[in-house]
Amino acid sequence: MKYAIAGVIILFLFVNASAQNNTEAALQVKISGIIKKMTLEEKVAMLHGSATFYSAGVPRLGIPEVSYDDGPLGVRREEERFGWNSANWTTDSATFLPNGSAIAATWNPEMAHKYGVVMGEEANARNKIVMLAPAFNICRIPLCGRTYEYYSEDPYLNGQLAIQAVKGIQSQHVAACIKHFAANNQEVNRGVINEIIDERALREIYLPAFKAAIEQGDAYTIMSAYNKINGYWCSENDFLLDKVLKTEWGFKGIVISDWGGTHHTVAAANVGLDVEMGSNGPYDQWYFAKPLIAAVKAGQVSEKTIDEKVRRILWVIYHTSMSADHLKGSIATPEHGKAAYDIASESIVLLKNDDHLLPLNTDKVKSIAVIGDNATRTFATGGFGASVKVKYEVNALAGIRSRFGKTADIKFAQGYKANYLASNTAEQNAGYDKPDMALINEAVGLAKTTDVAIVCIGSNREYESENHDRKNLELPFGEQALVNAVTAANPKTIIVIMAGAPYDLNEIKKTNSTIVWSWFNGTEAGNALADVLKGAVNPSGKMPFTFPVSMNDSPAIALNTYPGKDTTTTYKEGILVGYRWYDTKKIDPLYCFGYGLSYTNFTYTGLLTDKKDYTPADKIAVSVKVKNSGSVAGKEIVQIYVSKVNSAVSRADKELKAFRKIMIAPGKTIPVIMNINVSDLAYFDDMLGKWVVEPGEYKLMAASSSKDIRQIAAFNVSK
Ligand code: BGC
Repeated sequence: MKYAIAGVIILFLFVNASAQNNTEAALQVKISGIIKKMTLEEKVAMLHGSATFYSAGVPRLGIPEVSYDDGPLGVRREEERFGWNSANWTTDSATFLPNGSAIAATWNPEMAHKYGVVMGEEANARNKIVMLAPAFNICRIPLCGRTYEYYSEDPYLNGQLAIQAVKGIQSQHVAACIKHFAANNQEVNRGVINEIIDERALREIYLPAFKAAIEQGDAYTIMSAYNKINGYWCSENDFLLDKVLKTEWGFKGIVISDWGGTHHTVAAANVGLDVEMGSNGPYDQWYFAKPLIAAVKAGQVSEKTIDEKVRRILWVIYHTSMSADHLKGSIATPEHGKAAYDIASESIVLLKNDDHLLPLNTDKVKSIAVIGDNATRTFATGGFGASVKVKYEVNALAGIRSRFGKTADIKFAQGYKANYLASNTAEQNAGYDKPDMALINEAVGLAKTTDVAIVCIGSNREYESENHDRKNLELPFGEQALVNAVTAANPKTIIVIMAGAPYDLNEIKKTNSTIVWSWFNGTEAGNALADVLKGAVNPSGKMPFTFPVSMNDSPAIALNTYPGKDTTTTYKEGILVGYRWYDTKKIDPLYCFGYGLSYTNFTYTGLLTDKKDYTPADKIAVSVKVKNSGSVAGKEIVQIYVSKVNSAVSRADKELKAFRKIMIAPGKTIPVIMNINVSDLAYFDDMLGKWVVEPGEYKLMAASSSKDIRQIAAFNVSK
């Protein structure tokens, strides 16, 4: 019977796969037919922007234009066709979704999928074919202005989330555009910087999430980054686009340049860029417009190469706007708000709760001082790029009022002014870090009169922004002075930090008992935060990146490779990025990768592998029992790290190889089973140019954070 069922399943999979192959083959035949009917001018018109967010179709043949939109925090408002001003539509108010590092802090691929579905549905409602999302460059430098858009410092975590974000978007027949390929890790000099990165670091750190999003997520499009890698612009980088992406990974979709990120006609056309995008016309003068026609006529680019690019574009169009079951979509629905809430409530990280002040007891807390500019600020727009014209956004004060307003008297004091604009010069922004004593005194006066004070600080969408990096890790706007003064006035002070990247929390960690980390957390941010403060939601987020004690501890800074010299930077730290660096070099971080508390406790027992000896072709089944030993239900993120004992090559102290987020009822124990491919334990050998699984002993760790190892086991790999 068992064999009969297995047989039926195999037959079904086979029939299904061959049906899919037939449809693919039929589609390719159809596409060839269309290409044959096109003139060279019509083909080339499809290969470059025809407006800020459009590239041309061929109306004569019924081929629609391709529409693009940002990403990644929600579907961007409609811009005027030419330029960057609002088209002033009344139907483009969207859902603001939690930022990238917030999604990463959920450590929950289901949340990334939810994010994707909302993006896809809203893109359809706006007739957008390509969503310029998700963005998941590795967080190499804590100061990078776009860290908030990106996911984490770990390639495996990034990959697992990216796969699901892409699948979610594309489930709606909208193309995801994964970005920025590759290593757009700093905003300073992003348009000119030449990054010297060894192949091992590229293969092990900067490329795996892109590989996963393509091979397992089936991403239809990818955006080449602004920077150069090893001497070549990413939009004309033979190694990246031709060798790795299209040949090794078998990418079938379109490579789109970042806006204004194309630099040559022939070089880019011949190594794999498919579409040149940018801002201003005259569009027919762009590299992939008239100069490309001339290059074909001069024999520098073959018409076959042009046909190949057009084929890819048509393939994407047939999977999106011209797919048989194209969906109508919907925008800013209550369901989308609920999805944003779910993601936000899983992303909030409890950093410290020493006095068990949280969750707040509504029977006892009768008055609350809500303090800080971030309590009333919204985060959907700001800086350059990644803005969302949002239908609504619940700020922290509104959330706290809605959850505590019936049981407590709630008063607000601004506490500090955020005098900083991303578009200002340093001189214009001068003094942004000075405390405002009048506002501090007012806040102190209020905090003295209330049962608790909630101080909302951090950064905002001007201070963290595309196109520039922060100068240092310090909390801006005189926030530390505010925190000190309010904490002295009211020992029951809760610090809530809203930001998208690491900050210097040394002093707060030392002096404050209660610290909560929220993000640019979307349309429902305030409600999710208030539910965590109240205990309606048990916090379950964990940090997706390391907080260094000092900026100088951070690898790129310690090795003096940031922001580079004469527009070149050498990634001297190699594979030692994020916790890989801190652990290997034995540098204690302020908060480590994977750190986050809960209102309950979890105990780990019985870490086991299904065997003791494996071959490189095997899968390791890892099991560990996790008990909720507290009195409330909670979600734990079980992290599995692996380390090679006595490696013959230099390797990181440990690497994340699996994780799982699980809800556990109080007192209950859940067995967690995860699989690891032995082949995923390989390192990339630069000399041999291939992945090598080292034989010998490996250490396996089940952990609650990268520094909180709860169980250890060992296994062997033979040749
Ligand atoms: C950004 C991209 C964005 C594009 C279009 C560029 O400046 O780097 O991430 O998608 O603009 O707005």
